[in-house]
Amino acid sequence: MRTRIVSILQREEPLDEVEVAGWVRTRRDSKAFSFIELNDGSCLRSIQIIADADLPTYGEVSRLATGAAASIKGKLVPSQGKNQKWEILASEVRVLGECPEDYPLQKKGHSREFLRSIAHLRPRTNLFGAVFRVRSRLAHAIHTFFQERGFVYVHTPIITGSDCEGAGEMFRVTTLDPHAAKRQHDADDFFGRPTYLTVSGQLEGETFACALADIYTFGPTFRAENSHTSRHASEFWMIEPEMAFCDLQGDMELAEEMVKALIGDALTHCEDDLKFFNQFVDKGLLERLEHVVTKPFERVTYTEAVEILLQSKQSFEYPVEYGLNLQSEHERFLTETHFRAPVTVCDYPKDIKPFYMRRNDDEKTVAAMDLLVPEIGELVGGSQREERIGLLEENMRAHELSMEDYGWYHDLRKYGSVPHAGFGLGFERLIMFVTGVANIRDVIPFPRTPGSAAF
Ligand code: 4AD
Ligand code: MG
Repeated sequence: MRTRIVSILQREEPLDEVEVAGWVRTRRDSKAFSFIELNDGSCLRSIQIIADADLPTYGEVSRLATGAAASIKGKLVPSQGKNQKWEILASEVRVLGECPEDYPLQKKGHSREFLRSIAHLRPRTNLFGAVFRVRSRLAHAIHTFFQERGFVYVHTPIITGSDCEGAGEMFRVTTLDPHAAKRQHDADDFFGRPTYLTVSGQLEGETFACALADIYTFGPTFRAENSHTSRHASEFWMIEPEMAFCDLQGDMELAEEMVKALIGDALTHCEDDLKFFNQFVDKGLLERLEHVVTKPFERVTYTEAVEILLQSKQSFEYPVEYGLNLQSEHERFLTETHFRAPVTVCDYPKDIKPFYMRRNDDEKTVAAMDLLVPEIGELVGGSQREERIGLLEENMRAHELSMEDYGWYHDLRKYGSVPHAGFGLGFERLIMFVTGVANIRDVIPFPRTPGSAAF
């Protein structure tokens, strides 16, 4: 039976018999033996295998080009080389799949752009192997974080009839034939009404928070937003906790605690991969992550943030003015230059925010918050929700939301309404932050962005 390379490399004792399987990274031949570097994706490191020319199966070794798959039995012995603790003296070499010379990863040093065009092979590189191991670990850490705190995991629907963010950036889900000769009506569509891919599980999440109190969702979300940036994807994953009996303060506290806990988890459990990123992707990464775990986050109101930006004497591409959205360059100035720490901005003007946010006593702002981190900008967006039925109705009218579509959401305020709050954390942005990888296309297995949905 095969043993994963990660567990072999952690061993304290040698082994008389061990079997590994993986893909050949390199092979070097000398007269008397061949060195094979084999990687199975279980960790960054490969294991070195020495195949003696006297082996009965030595004929197989010449078929092991870079990229070929092999299964190898042998003896685990302390390595003579100084780069590794263990190596395997092969007793049997079996080729599982040969790899011809046109293998695109034959050569090293391909650009990230090129690697995106071979998204089916790029997980076999050091960089992408590391990114996707970290992605997996963080997904686990997210569930652990919430489960340990008694939150219930809720699966909100992917096909929905409501536009949570009200931005109209939804992908329509339909079985209507766009080429049909006869005009077709919404009522003839598959669900008898227009439906879309969800932009957020929040509204459905609120219904469960108003029953199970503390819940979270973790699933894919979709936005037909024509943003060509390194931080926007058309399909991305979001974590959305929702808490009954909680206000904006509690919401901000949870978001900050969560970011710290997730980064702490990655530092503990993804040490080799993070060291690799620190060496080859972003030299300041480990220092930045340690800083985020140990230092308190800053907090400012939107009004204070606008003051800071106006007084900064920085020249920004987009204007800074009370009532306008903060752009990514503004967010990054606040967190990277001004505070040099993650910062939570709260109490935004109500006119630039969705219908569900709770109005503050000043009548001008809402109980919203965004958590900004260096290099990324907005990592988390959340708010306390409007639980007062009259004010919610006012917002629904202002946003032209119909009772027919949103009556169920309105009901939550009619039947036992409670203060509640929640947020959404963009999973890919978290992975970018933790790995230092600067483009969202390189932290999701098969990226979907405007104009691009290969594979
Ligand atoms: O700020 P957003 O739009 O908030 C919501 O959707 C709320 N309903 C969440 C809630 O309160 N439950 O999105 C939340 C986060 C952002 O802070 C960002 O990290 C990420 O989702 N995000 C994106 N990530 C990648 N590509 C995009 N196009 C993204 N849009 C938002
Ligand atoms: Mg937002």
